[in-house]
Amino acid sequence: MALGWINPEDYSFNSFLLLERFQIRSMFNSGGWRNDKAQWRHSMGAALNAHPAVAWYFKRRCPECAALVDAVMADAPTLTDAAEIRKAELYALISVEDFTIYTTPEKMATNCDFIRGWNKERLFSLVDLTGKTVLDVGAGSGRLAFAAAEKAAWVYASEPVGTLREFMREKIKREGIKNVRVLDGLVTELPFPDGTFDVVMSGHVLGDDWAKEIAELTRVCKSGGWLIDCRGDSERDMKPSPELTSRGWEEIHYVGSFGKDVYNHRKQARKG
Ligand SMILES: C[S@@+](CC[C@H](N)C(=O)[O-])C[C@H]1O[C@@H](n2cnc3c(N)ncnc32)[C@H](O)[C@@H]1O
Repeated sequence: MALGWINPEDYSFNSFLLLERFQIRSMFNSGGWRNDKAQWRHSMGAALNAHPAVAWYFKRRCPECAALVDAVMADAPTLTDAAEIRKAELYALISVEDFTIYTTPEKMATNCDFIRGWNKERLFSLVDLTGKTVLDVGAGSGRLAFAAAEKAAWVYASEPVGTLREFMREKIKREGIKNVRVLDGLVTELPFPDGTFDVVMSGHVLGDDWAKEIAELTRVCKSGGWLIDCRGDSERDMKPSPELTSRGWEEIHYVGSFGKDVYNHRKQARKG
């Protein structure tokens, strides 16, 4: 799926030296997000053959992918023409354009439609954040976390990508924000005790394993607290989430700034 967030020409293939282990695993297990998997194997393999340091990093950083990395490289040509090598690099970079843009978080505000077109009032209309302790899961560059911080007592921004955590920490320091803390964490393994938060929110994070993810969001939410899925506005058609509505989440629909449907969701956590 093309997101239109990057011009791959702006990126060195060495950008992949900034990927996290879970990203390398996800990329190799899926063959990138584009449809042509054969093209992905050819391009990634040829680019890695031209960049042994990146191949070394992938295998050391993500040992469970080492055999896959070797196989993709063995099946691909060793190119010598610089233009052919660059073509292979560009396909690999655009095939995971979200991962690629996370290596330059400062570009997200202008390039990512879900940030560029979004109005924070959409979050405020979903839940009263005043004085609350809030968790933003998969916080990215902090779209939801920094909006919530304008009203909440405390916001914890959990994010598994190091470049994005650093981006948020630098913004906090630069702007003297006192009530946001940034930390690592996967949606399926949040580093908090049960029932910690009044509000647990996310945007564009859920969907790999709905049952496991929702169970973990619910675990860290107080009974009576709110679970929120607040997306940004998209330039593409957005689909509703039957995975949430079928589990009792309320759907809140609006037509976004690009004229496309946006579906947000909320549910009050009830435990015991
Ligand atoms: C499209 S971005 C959305 C960022 C932010 N939530 C927003 O809406 O502005 C998706 C985010 O989810 C994070 N992410 C990806 N897989 C994740 C996982 N398994 N657990 C937690 N976060 C994840 C990514 O690193 C990225 O920051």
